Amino acid sequence: MNRDEVSSVTHGDLPFANPLSEAAIDAAITALELEPGAQVLDIGAGNGELLTRIFDAHPGTTTVAVEPSEPWAEAARDRGVHIVYEQTLEEAPLDPPYALVFFNASSHAIGGWDEALREYARLGDQALVGEGFWRREPSESYLADALGGATRDELPTHDGLLDGARAAGWEVVAESVASDEDWARYEETLIAQGEAHLAQDPEPDLRAWVDAAKARWEHPDGKDTLGFALLTLRKAD
Ligand SMILES: C[S@@+](CC[C@H](N)C(=O)[O-])C[C@H]1O[C@@H](n2cnc3c(N)ncnc32)[C@H](O)[C@@H]1O
Repeated sequence: MNRDEVSSVTHGDLPFANPLSEAAIDAAITALELEPGAQVLDIGAGNGELLTRIFDAHPGTTTVAVEPSEPWAEAARDRGVHIVYEQTLEEAPLDPPYALVFFNASSHAIGGWDEALREYARLGDQALVGEGFWRREPSESYLADALGGATRDELPTHDGLLDGARAAGWEVVAESVASDEDWARYEETLIAQGEAHLAQDPEPDLRAWVDAAKARWEHPDGKDTLGFALLTLRKAD
């Protein structure tokens, strides 16, 4: 199984690949300021669910997805996303500025939080950004054993998340942070759906992913080290 297939099995019917509740995501979408005709860009759009919900809440917007994975890009087209670039952010022929740019958990792919913030500013006037952060200092054992050798500098702290956004010229208009219950529901659903598939099909790549997810979740620091926030950012005047 490749990474997309593992993700598809473990996420199953979950609409989003992040721990926030659907209610929190829908509230952030409803509060966005988008005129009819506004172009909305989702980088790493997955199945296009977020763009579909934005279109439903803000009729008349044009939805644009960048999604290099073929099955996810296909799913976004099936959901009715208007423009789907089956390419990476680096390859897609984008035409900024967009009224809104959405990124979910992808700043590490861009090079880190500060670089990602500059990239959002190049692409749009408003951003909806889902990003991980350290709720507390990660222990050496958590980094090595639970995250497979991750390093402390891969994520900001919560203060670093907000300070970085402000320093890059963004106003933080709204924020929603995943609760302990949100994390438990998300992590335990992924593990359970992975195990259910493995009971029928003992696929080694999926087995490795589920074992790694369990090591992360069941580590003594597994339930209070990682955080996840959804920020609504608007360019400060
Ligand atoms: C964590 S998933 C988020 C999916 C979706 N936005 C969501 O919230 O459910 C990250 C997505 O980014 C895509 N991706 C990975 N590298 C990318 C790149 N260089 N440019 C654009 N998208 C990328 C992946 O294929 C994946 O669908």
